[in-house]
Amino acid sequence: MATSTTPHYTVPGVSTHDGGRIIDVLSTRLHALNDLSLTLKHIHWNVVGPHFIAVHEMLDPQVDRVRAMADDTAERISALGGVPHGTPGALVAERSWDDYSVGRADAIAHLGALDLVYTGIVEAHRAAVAEVGKIDPVTEDLLIEQLRALEQFQWFVRAHLENSGGSLSQAGARTEHEAARSARQDTGR
Ligand SMILES: [Fe+2]
Repeated sequence: MATSTTPHYTVPGVSTHDGGRIIDVLSTRLHALNDLSLTLKHIHWNVVGPHFIAVHEMLDPQVDRVRAMADDTAERISALGGVPHGTPGALVAERSWDDYSVGRADAIAHLGALDLVYTGIVEAHRAAVAEVGKIDPVTEDLLIEQLRALEQFQWFVRAHLENSGGSLSQAGARTEHEAARSARQDTGR
């Protein structure tokens, strides 16, 4: 996780100590959002097979929205007196997760893996909401708004993987490759 020093100033009504804590939380969320926007483009470029165009075109509006989330998050860090780190090197050095691991693959395989990606970011965003909610409702509101969209995007992904009985083909998968494999098997590809 990124470590920041206590800022020289922060938003009125919040102590600089608490401002520093919020900046730390947001710095990791910024990395997660930048990582997600790049991963979504990677899938947009590498998806193949019968559902190519549906998935290829579904992902670009998600990229646009996630990039806007990253922008809002970075500017909130600045408003709080912090420094948003937007370079790839900082992202890789400070993130706690691995690179997305699926290359060229069919749509269902990518969606199985992407479901796990969304699970990771949604869980971490919820934990961030719980942490900053105690000290800054404005940052909490920003993250809640982002969560609503992220959860909707995960539903778009899961709708491709759900059977008529309402269960998800890749449920229980722990790795992206495992999720990709079980998603494909369940749909017979
Ligand atoms: Fe494109």
